[in-house]
Amino acid sequence: MQKSRLSEDLWETVSVLARYFDGMKCGHVGSDGYRKTSDMRVLLDVVRDLLNCGVIDPDKTVFLDLGSGDGRVCMLMSYFCKWSIGVELEDFIYEEYFQRRREVDLLLSQGLLPLGNNLCILNGDALNDDTHRQVESITGISLRDVDIFYTYITLHDVYADMLQKKANPGSFYMVYGFSAILPRYDGFTLLNPDVGGHRLVALYRLNSKVKL
Ligand SMILES: C[S@@+](CC[C@H](N)C(=O)[O-])C[C@H]1O[C@@H](n2cnc3c(N)ncnc32)[C@H](O)[C@@H]1O
Repeated sequence: MQKSRLSEDLWETVSVLARYFDGMKCGHVGSDGYRKTSDMRVLLDVVRDLLNCGVIDPDKTVFLDLGSGDGRVCMLMSYFCKWSIGVELEDFIYEEYFQRRREVDLLLSQGLLPLGNNLCILNGDALNDDTHRQVESITGISLRDVDIFYTYITLHDVYADMLQKKANPGSFYMVYGFSAILPRYDGFTLLNPDVGGHRLVALYRLNSKVKL
């Protein structure tokens, strides 16, 4: 797919994808809140904002979902990024990706734009160096190559701590799920407390290291 062609076809495809996944949200009722899924319509508005302000460049941006669940966010972001990568800890949730992927491929085969091969979902601990090495061996992407890190609240502060040590200064950290009071993370600047306009997604940026 030509990523620079942010066409009507593309928006139609991602809207269908968003509707499909929003019809099967996880963890919003019952006890499995830890595996809540992002609202994909919200994320489409987030993507529009990020494209408009140049944070996403479809030809360059590398996206990483820390705790990718069934891979839905990565699938959506793959249409707007050069690489869309996800890491999921739980084996049984990771396995769901393959089922979702089959369903999505079938859905998209009806005249919509197919998923590209810029999508990579791995089973592992997003905090573990071995997982990062595995990602790099498959995609050539190290943590320092990632432009946008994403999490749906899970371990948001622990991830921030890791990113402060290992990510590239200037990279973005996007956290889904806070409504009013936003956390601050050492080494990050809060750039936008409300990307997408739903009071759900905050965007931070990793500061340059200042040598004293
Ligand atoms: C709230 S869900 C979000 C799923 C997806 N990112 C979304 O927004 O729809 C968080 C996911 O992170 C996974 N997770 C928790 N700790 C993790 C870790 N250390 N490494 C990778 N995944 C982790 C959980 O198993 C769960 O599937």
